Amino acid sequence: MERVLITGAKGMLGLELTDVFGDSYDVYGRDIDDFDITRDEETVDAIIKIRPDVVIHTAAYTDVDGCESHIELAHSVNGGGTKNVASACRELGSEMVYISTDYVFDGTKSGAYSEEDSTCPINTYGRSKLEGERWVRTMVGQFVIVRTAWLFGRGGDHFVKTILKLAREKGALSVVTDQVGSPTYAVDLSRAIYILMEKKCRGIYHITNGKTCSWYEYAQEILAMSGLDNVSVDQISSDQLDRAAKRPRNSVLDRGKFERETGYRMRPWREALRDYLEREAKR
Ligand SMILES: NC(=O)c1ccc[n+]([C@@H]2O[C@H](COP(=O)([O-])OP(=O)(O)OC[C@H]3O[C@@H](n4cnc5c(N)ncnc54)[C@H](OP(=O)(O)O)[C@@H]3O)[C@@H](O)[C@H]2O)c1
Repeated sequence: MERVLITGAKGMLGLELTDVFGDSYDVYGRDIDDFDITRDEETVDAIIKIRPDVVIHTAAYTDVDGCESHIELAHSVNGGGTKNVASACRELGSEMVYISTDYVFDGTKSGAYSEEDSTCPINTYGRSKLEGERWVRTMVGQFVIVRTAWLFGRGGDHFVKTILKLAREKGALSVVTDQVGSPTYAVDLSRAIYILMEKKCRGIYHITNGKTCSWYEYAQEILAMSGLDNVSVDQISSDQLDRAAKRPRNSVLDRGKFERETGYRMRPWREALRDYLEREAKR
């Protein structure tokens, strides 16, 4: 059985990857309490001891606004930490899967971003994740870079949880209309990554759930599916939100390459959201 190491295994995506790969791979889930990826030697030694065939590197400093006040930390975890993981992969000849983001783009394109489009991050998180991509591309022989966006799932904090919490506490919300993207269920993304591995795909892939929406439309759908349509939602623009990090207006990623090469279709985000809410209601 192939050995797969998942970094960030206690995070939102790491949890689902652990489940999805668990049936057919020998999975080693590791997080910051096992080793801190910013510690060079510790990280390389720990990975070398495990001798994974594949490393799926999800560990990251993911607080997008926090990255603006902790610029060094962002680059140290998302850039330097990724370099350390890549270094171990190079030494072992292991394959590396790096999870990257729509935030490597500036969001000014009118259509969906393809893998060939030029990157141009507009915030520290995006720049630090792009630094991670560069380490993977230059250091690892066999790699996959998966760019995804707007994740939701059972672990971690995310938009769906925030909307439901605020709706229940406040009964009224204000949500931005001028940023579009594709919400992505961590379970669906984990299955897609599994398929990439099974089909031995290599290179950069854009993967999100299907269809697009604004954060405003997304919030409305979350409330409707949760029986909270009585909660009023105000439309606001990004400028009205005083956030430390700028966000791209257009986060839509073109999944064409992934779907053509694997023959696998990502379901529309609304279906995935319904599935997630039903599962959460049963827990
Ligand atoms: N969430 C999104 O919407 C989104 C969108 C696009 C791309 N991504 C990318 O997808 C990946 C997974 O995201 P996620 O939302 O699942 O992240 P997450 O829930 O924040 O999980 C990341 C995990 O990495 C751990 N970690 C942080 N710093 C570390 C360090 N120095 N050493 C070792 N582990 C460390 C975290 O531990 P602590 O919790 O203890 O810090 C956490 O368990 C990330 O690479 C992210 O950049 C996410």
